[in-house]
Amino acid sequence: MTPSLASALMPLMRGMDPERAHNLSLKMLRLGLVGRDRTADDPVLATSALGLAFRNPIGLSAGFDKNAVAVRPLMRLGFGFVEPGTTTPRPQDGNPQPRLFRLPEDAAVINRMGMNNEGMASFVVRLAALKRPLPAVLGANIGINKEGAEPEHDYPSLYAAVAPQADYVAINVSSPNTPGLRDLQGEAKLAAILEAVAAARAAAPRQPPVLVKIAPDLADEALPGLVENCVAQGVAGLIVSNTTVARPDSLRSAHRGEMGGLSGQPLFAPSTELLRRVFRLAQGRLTLIGCGGIASGEQAYAKIRAGASLVQLYAGFAYAGPALVPRLKQELATLLKRDGFRHVHEAVGADAR
Ligand SMILES: Cc1cc2nc3c(=O)[nH]c(=O)nc-3n(C[C@H](O)[C@H](O)[C@H](O)COP(=O)(O)O)c2cc1C
Repeated sequence: MTPSLASALMPLMRGMDPERAHNLSLKMLRLGLVGRDRTADDPVLATSALGLAFRNPIGLSAGFDKNAVAVRPLMRLGFGFVEPGTTTPRPQDGNPQPRLFRLPEDAAVINRMGMNNEGMASFVVRLAALKRPLPAVLGANIGINKEGAEPEHDYPSLYAAVAPQADYVAINVSSPNTPGLRDLQGEAKLAAILEAVAAARAAAPRQPPVLVKIAPDLADEALPGLVENCVAQGVAGLIVSNTTVARPDSLRSAHRGEMGGLSGQPLFAPSTELLRRVFRLAQGRLTLIGCGGIASGEQAYAKIRAGASLVQLYAGFAYAGPALVPRLKQELATLLKRDGFRHVHEAVGADAR
């Protein structure tokens, strides 16, 4: 199969329960049935960030491949980077099903998966088994268990476990479905976690950069402290953002009242605004990954102009399928050239200064 045929078949999967459809997609990817993006990336898209070389700035965000079972097939779809996880110290089942809902009239998704995953041990084994070199940059997203978590111990040990394999490590303190997790974004708690992670990093033979993934629901007043905290602890960047607990009045789909995190189109504007604010506060000291509601090259471009050096998506990819990746890249390249940019990094923050 080719990526465009796989995308053409997506409407058939919309009749299925969303979690079953997702698991089927992962299985098809693992079996090599989804094909690959054979088009060469436009050189305007190549960029370096976080001390790493990216062939393009479009990434797959965490949660799609929680257990790192389809990393290479996902990279072959044309992503510049793929971030498996969130992985936690111990396996956990997550919340009872149903826990994933399509909001088709809103081009959105609500999930309350609850960070279901097979745990760090098998995650690390899978990353280690990946044949190198990989066709794209490899992130690893780490988080804590719902029960029995000790954040100041768990995050550093997760960092140490994935550091030999990953090109960067993202600390998830922003999923809305693990009680208390988002409180870890508070100044004192975050400082303690980041200090412990920095110590683990200093002791590690291989030291991939650390990113912090934040929630779009953070209060404006919390942002300056958060940014300074991250800079002070040697964090390389922020992922802006995770899903939102807000429910805009514009939502029309039947499932709009479900509990959980909302992603997709309704998240685009608020997460882009947050990105712009964080870019202004960071003043070049942090690398930003823009995430939330991207489903077109224009939206990827808007995130970059708001301050993102790289972008990620999930819901847009889940709706449109693998053909979206080459389309996004082509649209983004066209927009960059239209505006006279020779390299994507020249456009970073063009609308935030
Ligand atoms: C079903 C689902 C599961 C997710 N799981 C995770 C996760 O395990 N860890 C994480 O950091 N983000 C997770 N996310 C959040 C996404 O990575 C992303 O930040 C969010 O969906 C916003 O991007 P989007 O609008 O392009 O979907 C999940 C999102 C969805 C829809």
